[in-house]
Amino acid sequence: MHIPQRTHYAGSLRAEHIGQKVTINGWVNSNRDMGGLLFLDIRDREGVAQCVVEPNSESTSLYEEGKKLRSEFVVSIEGAVRQRSNPNAKIQTGQIEILISSIQVLNESEVPPFVIEEEVKASEELRLKYRYLDLRRPSMQKNLMTRHKVTQSIRNFFDSRGFIEVETPMLMKATPEGARDFLVPSRLHHGEFYALPQSPQIYKQILMVAGLDKYFQIVKCFRDEDLRADRQPEFTQLDVEMSFPDEEMVYDAMENCLRKVWEDVGLSLQKFPRYSYKEVMESYGSDKPDLRYDLKITTLTDLLRSKTEFKVFNDALETKQGVIASIAAPGCAVWSRKQLDELTDHAKLYGAGGLVWMKVTEAGIDSSAKKFLSPELMQEIVNASNAKQGDLILIGVHQKWSRAYTIMGALRSEIAKRLKLLEGKQFEFAPLWVMNFPMFELDEASGKFNSMHHPFTSPVVEDWDNKTDDLAQIRARAYDIVVNGYELGSGSIRIHDRKLQSEIFDMLGLTKDEMEKKFGFMLDAFRYGAPPHGGMALGIDRIAMLCCGTDNIRDVIAFPKTTSMQGLMEECPSPVDSKQLGELGININK
Ligand code: AMO
Repeated sequence: MHIPQRTHYAGSLRAEHIGQKVTINGWVNSNRDMGGLLFLDIRDREGVAQCVVEPNSESTSLYEEGKKLRSEFVVSIEGAVRQRSNPNAKIQTGQIEILISSIQVLNESEVPPFVIEEEVKASEELRLKYRYLDLRRPSMQKNLMTRHKVTQSIRNFFDSRGFIEVETPMLMKATPEGARDFLVPSRLHHGEFYALPQSPQIYKQILMVAGLDKYFQIVKCFRDEDLRADRQPEFTQLDVEMSFPDEEMVYDAMENCLRKVWEDVGLSLQKFPRYSYKEVMESYGSDKPDLRYDLKITTLTDLLRSKTEFKVFNDALETKQGVIASIAAPGCAVWSRKQLDELTDHAKLYGAGGLVWMKVTEAGIDSSAKKFLSPELMQEIVNASNAKQGDLILIGVHQKWSRAYTIMGALRSEIAKRLKLLEGKQFEFAPLWVMNFPMFELDEASGKFNSMHHPFTSPVVEDWDNKTDDLAQIRARAYDIVVNGYELGSGSIRIHDRKLQSEIFDMLGLTKDEMEKKFGFMLDAFRYGAPPHGGMALGIDRIAMLCCGTDNIRDVIAFPKTTSMQGLMEECPSPVDSKQLGELGININK
C-alpha cells in the first residue's frame, strides 16, 4: 500500500493555510452526516481538523466512502484548506476546514471500549487497560509532550553548566535506602540477587571519588513501597552530584534548572524562600507546605504556660516537647457546631485528643474553653494568633513537638480546602527550600534511630561536635525543594570521610560485619581520596505533574502501574513458567 506522506499535522492548520492543498494522516474523531453534507473530524497528535464532503455531483463517491468511516479508523485525507463558514473559537483549528478531494483508509478500527474525548467518562481502570486509546486523548498527548520538554530542558541546562550525564547500573547490590528493594534473581549464582536501584546514590558518590566533578542523570528508580497519587514503584529522577560544593552551589544549580524548566514549558516559578525544618514545621505544620496560601500557625506554648487551670493545656506541657499552637481561619466564626466537630474529627485522625475553638465576634470572644480562660488571656490569644473580628481560632495541643505541629498542618490544609483557597491557582507555583532537617528520627515502634534522609548525609558540624545522647537534636546538611505541597526533591552535602561514615553506620545500629557486607565497596572507595561532595535528586514525574496542572502522577507517565502495582494493559506482574524458575533456582512457596 502506498502511504501518503502528510504535508501538515491536522492540528497545526490555521487561517494562514487557507488556499493550500494539504494531506493529513490521522484518526477519525467523529463523523457527522448532515444529509449529503459530511463532516469528518480528523485527529492527530497536534489536534483536530474539520474536513468536509459537500453535496455535489463530483463528490458522490467521496460521500459514500466518507460515510463508511467510523471512529478511530486510520485515514489519509487530501483536500484544500478554506475558511469555515461557522468558525469555532474554542479550538485552534476553528477558523478553517478542509474540503476533501480524496480519502484513503489506512486501517480500520473496532468500536473502541470508550469514546476518546477530552471529558472521558471511562473509569481509570478501563483507561489503563486500553492505555493506547487513552493516550490518544489530546490532554494525554499534551502531557507527554510537556514531559518531553521538561527532560529536554533539564539536559540542555546541565550540559550548558558542564555536568556530564553518566548511566549507572540497573542491576546493583541491594543497599536499602528506606523503601523495599525490587530484587532480580541471578541465573548464574543461584540464591543471589541483584536489586533494582532505589536511586543511584552510591554510584553518583563513587563517580565523585572517580573525579567526574559534576554529574547528572535522568534515571529510572525503583521502590517497592505503598503507592499514592504522587508515587509510583518505578519513577524517574533527575539525579545530580558535584564535587567541592557548599549548599549555595547546589541551591543555585537546582533553582536555576527549575526556573528554566518552568520557562521552557511556558510557566513561571515564584521566588524560593528558605526555611529551616524547625521554622517550616512551626509555621505551616508540614515539611512540605503549600505556600500558595498563607494561614500561618502560631505557637502559644510560652503564652499559656502556667497561666490557666485548664488540664488540657497543662497536661500537654508536662513534657519538654509539649506544644500548644493555634491557627486562625479568616471569616469562619460563623462555622456551625457540626463544622467544628468535623474539624475536630479531622484533627483526631492526626493524633489530636480534641481541639479548643475560639470565635471572635462583634459580641466578644466565645470559646469552648471559656470556663478556663480569662477574658484577658483570650484577648492575648486572639492578638498572638493575628485573628480579627469574624475569625475562628483553633487551638491544638500535644506532648510531642512534631505531632502537635502535624495536627496543626492537617488543620491548615483542611481549612484551605473548605475555604477553597486554591481555586484558580492550579498554574501558580510556590516553591521553597527546607533546610537542616534532623539527622536522625526515632522509630517509635523499635525505639531505634533511623536516618531521616539517608545515611550518607553530613551532620551540621557544630551539632556534631556538641552532640549529646539525644541524637534527635543533631541537624543534617540536608535540604528539600517543595512546590505546592509536593516534595519535589531532596539532597545533602555528603559524608566523604571514611571514619565519620563508619561512625554514622554504627549509630544506626549496623555491626562492623553488616557495614562491610552492605557498604564495604563504598567505604573502600573512601580510602582513596574522596573529594567533598554533595547533590540532590528531583522527581521528574512530579515536576511533569505540576507543569501539566494535574494532581495524579499517572497522568504524566505513559504506562503507569495502578495503586495495587499492576500494569493493567500488559497484565503484570504475571506468573512465569516452571522452566524459567528452575533456571533461576527458584521454588515458589504458595
Ligand atoms: P529521595 O528519596 O528524596 O532522595 O528522592 C528524590 C525525589 O524523587 C521523587 N520520588 C518519587 N517520585 C515518584 N514515586 C516515588 N515512589 C518516589 N520516590 C521518590 C521525589 C523525591 O523528592 N538519593 C536521594 C537524593 C540525594 O540525596 O541526592 C534520593 O533518592 O520527588
